[in-house]
Amino acid sequence: MKRAVAQAAIAHVPADCIVGVGTGSTANFFIDELAGIKHKLRGAVASSEASAKRLQGHGIEVLSLNDAGTLPVYVDGADEITRHMHMVKGGGGALTREKIVAAASRKFVCMCDASKLVDVLGKFPLPIEVIPMARSYVARELVALGGQPKLREGFTTDNGNIILDVHNLQIMNPVELETTLNNIAGVVTNGLFARRGADVLLLGTPEGVQTLTAA
Ligand code: A5P
Repeated sequence: MKRAVAQAAIAHVPADCIVGVGTGSTANFFIDELAGIKHKLRGAVASSEASAKRLQGHGIEVLSLNDAGTLPVYVDGADEITRHMHMVKGGGGALTREKIVAAASRKFVCMCDASKLVDVLGKFPLPIEVIPMARSYVARELVALGGQPKLREGFTTDNGNIILDVHNLQIMNPVELETTLNNIAGVVTNGLFARRGADVLLLGTPEGVQTLTAA
C-alpha cells in the first residue's frame, strides 16, 4: 500500500519543478518513485538528512529551501490523519523540517494507508521537539495539559534537539492545541499539522488508492 500511494503521488508532481520531500518509510517509496522521473525535475528540498541522502543516492539534486523559494508541492506520510486533513507527524523525528518545508509549499499531498485515518487524533503519541535544556520544564507543562510525556531515548533530531512523545492526549481541537504547544518556551515544534494541514490525502486501501480532499 505504501508503494501504491507513493506511485499515485507522482501524478501531483508538476514537470520541471523543485519538489518538497518528506521523511519516513512511505516517503522513501516516494523518493524511489521520483527516481523514475528525475529527468523531469529541477531538484528536491528534503525534510531530513535521511531523505536528502536517499534522494542523492538516486542522483536527484537536493537544494536548500532558502535557494528553492516557494515549492509547488510537498509530499509526505503521516502517523495519523483525520478527514479534516489534520495530522500527527514526527514518528520519525523529522517534524520540524517537515513543518517548515510544508509551510513553504503551495500544496501538501499526504500518503497513508487506511489504518492511519482516525476520527480523533492522539492515540499515536504526539511528538514534540524540545531544546534539551528545557526538557523538564516542557514536560511539566505537558503534564499540566493532561498529557504523559516520555523522552525518546537515545534520539537526537537533525537540529540537535530531543523529542518528547506525549501519550494519552485526546486531541479534540488540533488547531488550538498546536498553537498552545508552540507557545511553551523551549518547544521548537510540535507534531500537530493542523494549522497547515494536508490538501490531498492519498489513502491506500485493499481496494486501491483513494483520493480525499478536506471535508
Ligand atoms: C517523520 O518524522 C514522520 O512525520 C513521518 O512522516 C511519519 O512518521 C510517517 O512515517 P511512515 O511513512 O514511516 O509511517
